[in-house]
Amino acid sequence: MPVLRIFLRLPAARRKRLVRPGHADRLVVDVSFDRCSEQFDKRPGLPPPLFEELLDRLVDQLGGNGPVLDLGAGTGRFAIPLQARGIRVVEVDISHAMLRRARMKGARDVCVANAMRLPFRDRTFETTLTVSILHLVASWRGALHEVARVTRNRLVNVSESSRLYRLPRKDGSEEPYDPLGRYLEIAGPPWREYTHPGHHWVDLAERIVPPKTRITIGPRRQVVDGDWLLSLIEARAYSPQWPVPDPVHAAALERLRIEMAIRQFEQISEVEIVSWTSDELRSM
Ligand SMILES: C[S@@+](CC[C@H](N)C(=O)[O-])C[C@H]1O[C@@H](n2cnc3c(N)ncnc32)[C@H](O)[C@@H]1O
Repeated sequence: MPVLRIFLRLPAARRKRLVRPGHADRLVVDVSFDRCSEQFDKRPGLPPPLFEELLDRLVDQLGGNGPVLDLGAGTGRFAIPLQARGIRVVEVDISHAMLRRARMKGARDVCVANAMRLPFRDRTFETTLTVSILHLVASWRGALHEVARVTRNRLVNVSESSRLYRLPRKDGSEEPYDPLGRYLEIAGPPWREYTHPGHHWVDLAERIVPPKTRITIGPRRQVVDGDWLLSLIEARAYSPQWPVPDPVHAAALERLRIEMAIRQFEQISEVEIVSWTSDELRSM
């Protein structure tokens, strides 16, 4: 059984102990997205006007003289439009399948590598971009030090947050609906105790080194289809679903279908851009 599967089957408290700061760098658990490269681009993304505004702000943040490293670039969701805006982007990902898709979509420079061991000389890049990867890397501290080694200037991290509400909305007081959270809740223990192996960027920002740049964009809205969200959950498009055994998956999906099918949801999204200098990364 692969190391990740064994690791994710441990109770959450045990997993936390295994990856506690200081020891995390010795435990290498990689969450490659090989198994969901087909579904990844079907996930509901950010509302298009929000995404465009984000790209414009990123060009300001990343634009400069040197190339940009997009670490954990996936299928090129950011690298390809940034490339079209005149930025030279090198995409690195641990997943062959994700990078293969990126190439098919027009990514120019791609490289399969682990964030822990980047195959580049010191200070190769002006800036590094990370989007939705730090929470996946158990050895996040080692990865950040590796980013500091290959980056002259700074790391720019984008974090996206979206809430879903069932439509029609009754009033402003209702709770957001979280399809993946509901799926895990229905699946029950130990699956509902899933925690990502890495570090959430908020912990880095608020508890470890507060970033000097912090830009919030949004909120913006879009409507998404319940059937579409269900099809993604059915195809296990989200990493917390991967360790769930098939019969538990089928039963959870059945319940979710009753709650979600034929419904529409309002998705409210916002993004935050934060950045740290390479010196600040070394001190983490
Ligand atoms: C949630 S996806 C985000 C992809 C892209 N940044 C985006 O926002 O569309 C996370 C990506 O990080 C990659 N990844 C996970 N652990 C990694 C590691 N240790 N080194 C390099 N890439 C990694 C996964 O394979 C996956 O493609």
